[in-house]
Amino acid sequence: MKSFSQEVSLGLSKKNKTLSSKWFYDFHGSKLFEKITKLEEYYPARTEIKILNDNKIEIANKIGKNAVLIEPGAGDIKKIEIFLSSLDKPKKYVPLDISKDYIIKISQGFKKKFPKVAITPKGYDFSENNKLPFKINSSENVIIFFPGSTIGNFEKKDAVKFLKMLKFKFKAKKIIIGADLVKNISTLISAYDDKKGITAKFNKNILKRINTELGGDINLNNYKHVAIYNKSKKRIEMRLRAKKNNSFNINNSKYLIKKNEEIHTENSHKYTIRSFKNLTNEAGWKIKKTWVDDKKLFSVHFLDLAK
Ligand SMILES: C[S@@+](CC[C@H](N)C(=O)[O-])C[C@H]1O[C@@H](n2cnc3c(N)ncnc32)[C@H](O)[C@@H]1O
Repeated sequence: MKSFSQEVSLGLSKKNKTLSSKWFYDFHGSKLFEKITKLEEYYPARTEIKILNDNKIEIANKIGKNAVLIEPGAGDIKKIEIFLSSLDKPKKYVPLDISKDYIIKISQGFKKKFPKVAITPKGYDFSENNKLPFKINSSENVIIFFPGSTIGNFEKKDAVKFLKMLKFKFKAKKIIIGADLVKNISTLISAYDDKKGITAKFNKNILKRINTELGGDINLNNYKHVAIYNKSKKRIEMRLRAKKNNSFNINNSKYLIKKNEEIHTENSHKYTIRSFKNLTNEAGWKIKKTWVDDKKLFSVHFLDLAK
């Protein structure tokens, strides 16, 4: 597994500079993401919450008895709450997140709300082939909850790999997953480039972390947050664009960045119902049910193992 430092030095040494979006999320980054989910422009969060609320009984029935719920990239764990109390004797809930301090902190209040469910938050990076930080009994009713359109952050081939891993490593029997839908470009762009500039702060948090954790001296004011829609790949791309020629040091290495050069920090792929079905089928899953809001902005899917 590569460390933050190794990934930064690799990513910034390439011709087309990249950093993984997973590095947005330290405690501060997770707080900023929480703020993003409440923004007027950020339709995905409120739309997915409405879909889950409107269909919580059906979802609970599909999940069944004695569920062991695992949520990779759980964030503020607001969405599981929508149907947790409708479930029939849920056994365990395991929120996992790369932002370890945040997930531990946010789970404290949650444990008080659901005293009968064993809640065991863990720091875990799902992008690497890391050992699971808990034991799974393959005879259990293991349900993966993966909302927030986090699947969109993966390149397509990595999304397939991830969905396969849920089956083989997590022993998942069913998955409830949120996928953002293809739509008009202006709605998409404003969701990733809000008027208050919270998403810009979130994007720049990666540079802030380089400064504080790796001893970098990047001047954040030299960079502009950019969100563009890549039509051929059907994805929003977030980048940090240099406003002028500049240089900085990290760990005794000097980096020279030219004016308008960009660091690509996040992809957020958008799906159609059909393209999402193809993706899940390729990974050995079958969509049993799809819920979509009235405006067809967002989709939630219930997946079962393809037999
Ligand atoms: C788009 S947010 C979604 C959060 C939450 N699930 C929701 O629906 O609001 C992505 C979440 O995944 C976490 N995350 C990102 N990359 C990760 C990784 N490689 N391993 C574990 N968690 C990751 C982030 O910390 C963040 O909480």
